[in-house]
Amino acid sequence: MSSNFGTIFKVSTFGESHCKSVGVVIDGCPPGLPLVEDDIQVQLSRRRPGQSKLTTDRKEQDAVVILSGTENGVTLGSPIALKVNNLDQRPSDYGDMETIPRPSHADFTYMAKYGIKASSGGGRSSARETIGTVSSGAVADKILREKYHMEIVAWVSSVGPVEAAPIDHETITRDIVDQTDIRCPDPGVVEQMRALIMELKDAGDSTGGTVSCVIRNVPAGLGEPVYEKLEAKLAQAMLAIPATKGFEIGSGFAGTKQRGSEHNDPFTLKGARLGTTTNNSGGIQGGISNGESIYFKIAFKPPATISQPQQTVDYDGKPVTLQAKGRHDPCVVPRAVPIVESMAALVMLDTAMRQEARKVFMRG
Ligand SMILES: Cc1cc2nc3c(=O)[nH]c(=O)nc-3n(C[C@H](O)[C@H](O)[C@H](O)COP(=O)(O)O)c2cc1C
Repeated sequence: MSSNFGTIFKVSTFGESHCKSVGVVIDGCPPGLPLVEDDIQVQLSRRRPGQSKLTTDRKEQDAVVILSGTENGVTLGSPIALKVNNLDQRPSDYGDMETIPRPSHADFTYMAKYGIKASSGGGRSSARETIGTVSSGAVADKILREKYHMEIVAWVSSVGPVEAAPIDHETITRDIVDQTDIRCPDPGVVEQMRALIMELKDAGDSTGGTVSCVIRNVPAGLGEPVYEKLEAKLAQAMLAIPATKGFEIGSGFAGTKQRGSEHNDPFTLKGARLGTTTNNSGGIQGGISNGESIYFKIAFKPPATISQPQQTVDYDGKPVTLQAKGRHDPCVVPRAVPIVESMAALVMLDTAMRQEARKVFMRG
């Protein structure tokens, strides 16, 4: 069931990069939620290609249609099917790649696994698949905001070697992030990041980067130890996004250089609840949320499809020079921001709904 995610709020995505449409079926969405296309479109439009010079030139409006599961703008509790049509397909761009697996893309591994693959684009491995994630994530995000006042905000924290200064996790908003097309809230590095991406785009090359994310107003007690610890679910969700190569939560790898006396998060009374004075844990201990903000960072590699000539071999092992055609992202991180938020929303809502089921017998 490789295209399914979630246990109570369950999503099932479908579609390839150049088929007729891509989308998702959500099963388990509560009834009575006001839901119209505009609720979903905002995040899809932040994800869509062609939104700025920094992204691929593929022109897609990515207009979502709700096919089922709502009536008069309210959810019925039945499966919600969401669809986006692929409009700007150019299969001819992929002629060479029928016989040559792109280095570091998924052509070779899909062929090894299935013995057949979509003839153009990345098929299922394409970032078009994330339309299903983002559409269903937007629904989850709405429920989290309205029922739990949970806020999920992601932003670009580095592009290649250019790093943003640390951002205040408690005040960052999506509006602030969207003030620039690069989606980096540190004005000191925005131009450097932009210049690097444009230079590489012109040179037919690409670069990686990182996306950071914070989840605020998380109640203590969410998460399912031991194999479905909250950080393990978040890591799984984030590493399911194409082009991801790393995940770190809280102090992450930097924490390995600290002593316990520096790294521990002492408890304190915060209003009516126990909180911590520092947050090196990233809001999770023992796989369970502790009531502090959850924050993590994801590494994205440089996109594999570059138009510079590359020495490689075809499927028969014959040496060839591949010069990929087509329109590709020189850096995925500006478009990855809403994808990260959406995957986080799917994890948090499903985890919160599992905890609701447990509360029936809980004391206090
Ligand atoms: C928003 C987004 C856009 C992407 N655009 C491209 C692209 O234009 N060209 C490309 O080769 N890879 C692109 N990728 C990455 C590939 O989908 C991914 O590298 C490929 O499927 C191989 O999977 P892996 O990198 O996770 O191993 C994109 C990824 C994301 C998240």
